[in-house]
Amino acid sequence: MAHRQHFGWFFSRGFGPQGWGRPEWRWGYDWTKPDLYQHSVRELEQAGLDLVIMEDAISIGTPETLDLRVRSAYGGPKHDPLLLAPYLFQATNHIGIVPTINAGATPPYLAARQAATLQHLSDGRFGINVVTDVKSARHFGLEELEHDAAYDRAQEWLDTVRELWHSWDDGAYVADAETGHFADGTRIRATRHEGEYFTVDGPLNAIPFNRALELKAEAISGLRRDASADRRLGGRFANNPDAYGTTNGDPAIVSPGGSGRGLGFAGANSDVQLALAPLNVAAVRAYRAKVTAEAQAAGRQASDVKTLFVFKPEVVASEDEARRVVDASHHPSDDELRAVLLGQSSDSETDLTGLDLDEPLDPAVFGPHVSRGTIKGLLGNAPSFDAQPLRDLLVAKARKGAVADREGFVGTAGQLADFIEELGEDAGNDGFIFSGDLHPVTVHRMLDDLVPELRRRGILRTSYAQGGLRANLTDF
Ligand SMILES: Cc1cc2nc3c(=O)[nH]c(=O)nc-3n(C[C@H](O)[C@H](O)[C@H](O)COP(=O)(O)O)c2cc1C
Repeated sequence: MAHRQHFGWFFSRGFGPQGWGRPEWRWGYDWTKPDLYQHSVRELEQAGLDLVIMEDAISIGTPETLDLRVRSAYGGPKHDPLLLAPYLFQATNHIGIVPTINAGATPPYLAARQAATLQHLSDGRFGINVVTDVKSARHFGLEELEHDAAYDRAQEWLDTVRELWHSWDDGAYVADAETGHFADGTRIRATRHEGEYFTVDGPLNAIPFNRALELKAEAISGLRRDASADRRLGGRFANNPDAYGTTNGDPAIVSPGGSGRGLGFAGANSDVQLALAPLNVAAVRAYRAKVTAEAQAAGRQASDVKTLFVFKPEVVASEDEARRVVDASHHPSDDELRAVLLGQSSDSETDLTGLDLDEPLDPAVFGPHVSRGTIKGLLGNAPSFDAQPLRDLLVAKARKGAVADREGFVGTAGQLADFIEELGEDAGNDGFIFSGDLHPVTVHRMLDDLVPELRRRGILRTSYAQGGLRANLTDF
């Protein structure tokens, strides 16, 4: 039996009209209402995924790029994913829900309070995808920080959030109806944080979620200390009241940054690293080794961080079909190339849609605001923009590869499962995050055939741990 891996879903275009205009929308969904997302997360929970990470970008763009971003709903609008979370919790029982929170946009006290509240409401299934993007700074009257400074700020932000979560010491929450004692103020610490980016007075006025604390209180008071409390903990409390330790009640931390600073942040802080990297044995091993080294340097165990790789498979019915899909992608139509160009335009916040496909692209079209990584991404393996017409770069972008040849991710469920198993066995991979719209059609296309195949091999869970998102992440 192959070793088990963890799986999640990256709701990659965030809470907005993702995929709008495609035929799927004629099912009659309204992207502004919860039904679409509730329907989808139920499917993901049925599939045994551990968590859903919800992308977010706070800014809709600058006046120059606004039309480009909204024209085909590629880059916006976006509603706040934090506010969608309770609807998703209500629709499910086990899966973790992890909205993106930008450490430069939400003040730590507010974030700590919101997260503590959602952690209670969801019985421990909440997490935060901590991001450092600085493009929305102007909406908050803040200066745009440099890359590394944004990481310094994110570290200080998370330290402050955690300080607030732990400002209620063990025994502070008493809830003893017999004596009329609700909480012990002498065990609530008036924390004060004064740092480079934040000055925050504690303590937090929301009770931190910590099952040990909560259930010790239940045990003391005799209230709600019944079979249901034990059942919620899988009977663990009865044997070991400290099963959840003092920090295990904190919301899970997810991080996506892939630079040296990003991996350092993951190693020091994260429960999950959302890894965007080439998917082959050597690259996965190398990425994991870096995260592990960072975790150990920060005094943590390698197993404290699950590195889950972004994965967008295209599942087809037969090996013949896989060949046909791959061959067709080598000869894209002009319409298909224009669709690729629109995506590249939105990603690079530069309108490339009017350019002549048969002329080389002049890199001067990219303003100083465009990330070098995005420009390099468009260039791909080409040496420079003037070496070929724009068409060639787009053809390379549109090109798909067969997973059977390890050249891409088009394949049958069996072929894709072989690949997933190979990375688990040969690279020690912790798992994958499927990436796509949070729409039942996308979910079904990707998972309907793959889930049974992964379960048959013992790679994908068939039941959930008891104890929220962190318990799911650590139960194997
Ligand atoms: C896979 C992935 C997902 C990301 N998701 C978001 C997001 O939802 N919102 C956001 O503002 N930034 C997001 N980011 C940006 C990161 O937080 C970070 O600012 C950026 O990647 C630069 O850091 P790096 O050089 O360490 O990768 C994401 C980055 C990656 C690689």
